[in-house]
Amino acid sequence: MTQDELKQAVARAAIEYVPAGEIIGVGTGSTANFFIDELGKIKDRIKGAVASSEATATRLRAHGISVLDLNEVESLSVYIDGADEITAQGAMIKGGGAALTREKIVASVAKQFVCIADGSKLVDVLGAFPLPVEVIPMAHAAVARALKALGGEPKLRAKDGQPVLTDNGCYILDVSGLRIAAPAELENRINNIVGVVTVGLFAQRGANVGLLGTGEGVKKLTF
Ligand code: 5RP
Repeated sequence: MTQDELKQAVARAAIEYVPAGEIIGVGTGSTANFFIDELGKIKDRIKGAVASSEATATRLRAHGISVLDLNEVESLSVYIDGADEITAQGAMIKGGGAALTREKIVASVAKQFVCIADGSKLVDVLGAFPLPVEVIPMAHAAVARALKALGGEPKLRAKDGQPVLTDNGCYILDVSGLRIAAPAELENRINNIVGVVTVGLFAQRGANVGLLGTGEGVKKLTF
C-alpha cells in the first residue's frame, strides 16, 4: 500500500468517530484532507465543522460543509487530525503544515482527539521530526537563541527565500536535534519562552485515540 492509501484508510476509519447531528473539529494536512473528502460523503449527518486552518476551511466549504467560528461553539465532541510523530502514549509533534496554533486551540475545546496517521508516524521517542514552534516575527532571533540553549538547532521556515507566514501572521522555527524524553515538560518550557506563540508538542493534551494505517489494516491505539 502507498502512504496515500494508508492515509485514505485511516481517514475512512475515522468516520466512525463522527457523531450524528454535531459540530466537529477538523485538522490540517494531507491526512486531514483525505478525512475531509470522506466527511463530504456524509455531510448531511453533521451540523458543521470548526476548521484548524484557512486551507481546511476552504476544503470543507468546497464539500458543502458548513464552517463555524470557534467563538460560536462551546464544545466539540471530537477533533480529528493528523500528526508528524506520535508515541505509544499519545504525545505528538504537529505543525508540519504550519497550523499548530489553531490545531491546539480547536483540540483544546474537544472532548476527544482522534489522531489519524500512517503507521510510519509512530515513534518510541519524539524529535526525529524537527519540532515546529510558532513565534512572533520580531522575536524569532531571541526565541531561536533560547531554543539553542535547550539543546536544539532552530531554523526559520522559509519558502522562496521568504519566511513562511502562518494563518496568524507569525513565523515558524523548526527545531532539530531534540530527543524529547519528557514531552509534557518540554511543552511547558518552550511555551514559557517570551515570543513563542505555540510549540508543536501536543503532550499535555495528547490524542485519546490513534488510528494508524499499516499494511495489515488500521491499527487502533487508545491512550
Ligand atoms: C499540520 C499538522 C499535520 O497534522 C501534520 O503535519 C501531518 O500532516 P500530514 O497528514 O500531511 O502528514 O500538524 O500543521
